[in-house]
Amino acid sequence: MTNKIFSLPKYSRLRNALLGLTVSFILVFNPDSSQAADTVKGGQLYALHCALCHGVSGISVMPNAPNLAKNEGLLQPDLSVLASIKNGKDAMPAFNGILSDQDILDVIVYLRTLN
Ligand code: HEC
Repeated sequence: MTNKIFSLPKYSRLRNALLGLTVSFILVFNPDSSQAADTVKGGQLYALHCALCHGVSGISVMPNAPNLAKNEGLLQPDLSVLASIKNGKDAMPAFNGILSDQDILDVIVYLRTLN
């Protein structure tokens, strides 16, 4: 069924605005949107894989591990941090094959909330 009112040129801007709102609503509230960073999941993964050395709240408990709560090691773009975590760095093990890129990006978003 076509809506005669909405097909009138006079209402096309209203129709486009409604369409825009609907699309934004779906993008913002869709829980399955795989690209959206997930801080909650990032926090769970951090507790499981990282807190052992970097401390529950980012204050490192291992000598030489950067204090993430003070932004140590985090003053670089997400993709550089991703590379360090994926490939490992000195005493830090590589998480390639353990965590997906999306998992690591979720953890990085969480790390940026620690300071
Ligand atoms: C076994 C201990 C250990 C674990 C587990 C560990 N790290 Fe690390 N991490 C380190 C150490 C040590 C360094 C310092 C490496 C260096 O620069 O010498 C480091 C460095 C870093 C850095 C700075 C990287 C850079 O480029 O300078 C970040 C960010 C980081 N870790 C995050 C994480 C995250 C997130 C996890 C969990 C997925 C994790 N670490 C797990 C020990 C650990």
